[in-house]
Amino acid sequence: MSQTNDLPFSQSCENNKQPILTQLERLLADAKHVLEVAGGTGQHAAYFAEALPQLRWQSSDIQSALAGLNSRIESLKLDNLPAALALDVDQQSWLLGTWPTAPAQRTEPTQGEKALSAGEQFEKAIYDRLGKNAAINAGPFDALFSANSLHIMSEGSVTNFFLGAGKLLAKDALLIVYGPFNYAGKFTSQSNEEFDGWLKERNPVSGIRSFEAVCSIADIANFEFEQDIEMPANNRLLVWRKRAAE
Ligand SMILES: C[S@@+](CC[C@H](N)C(=O)[O-])C[C@H]1O[C@@H](n2cnc3c(N)ncnc32)[C@H](O)[C@@H]1O
Repeated sequence: MSQTNDLPFSQSCENNKQPILTQLERLLADAKHVLEVAGGTGQHAAYFAEALPQLRWQSSDIQSALAGLNSRIESLKLDNLPAALALDVDQQSWLLGTWPTAPAQRTEPTQGEKALSAGEQFEKAIYDRLGKNAAINAGPFDALFSANSLHIMSEGSVTNFFLGAGKLLAKDALLIVYGPFNYAGKFTSQSNEEFDGWLKERNPVSGIRSFEAVCSIADIANFEFEQDIEMPANNRLLVWRKRAAE
């Protein structure tokens, strides 16, 4: 990721945004409110919100990535592209399905109570800032989209991504994930294998995920697998649909 005109920029986003949009036009034809997890530079949010004005595109990312993401979103002033919200898939409220309306604790601890953890303080700050608007931003979402995030997160965070999505999304909502995946324990190209090595050098917990493993986790999180779409540059677009609550 680099910085152009003060806005964060990724060349791969520039390359893949149109092929992804071509699929989203079809997949999200009936959707009204989409949550994007790990919005990054905001190039996808900007492109998709502009091309799909019938959708409200709610982007999000971890706190440290939010300023860059929101600088692009704010520069556009699109009615269907609100400011991105802070979301770390490891935060407690995501796993409880209460994100972003309910922080873990909303009051300062009194003497004897445990002090708020960094994550809890962060959630409290979001709640204090958004107040009632948090409820507006909370959804309901009828689709969740995330690109190039599962190979950056740790395996534990990948599990949390699906478990939280399963809590947040209602029956029939779509879960759409873009990125590279391995099949039957094998890389699908030499460039993906090299990319995996590069990722692990940067951060040993990163790495290209197994298609079969993410399908198992999605199944546990109550998603029915629907489509595996081949995309340019050895990437895939994976689509699940939320089942009825068990
Ligand atoms: C390679 S970037 C992808 C950004 C963008 N979606 C794209 O396709 O260019 C990976 C993103 O994952 C986000 N991320 C990493 N760990 C995360 C977590 N635990 N929860 C949510 N997002 C996370 C990073 O902040 C970053 O924006």
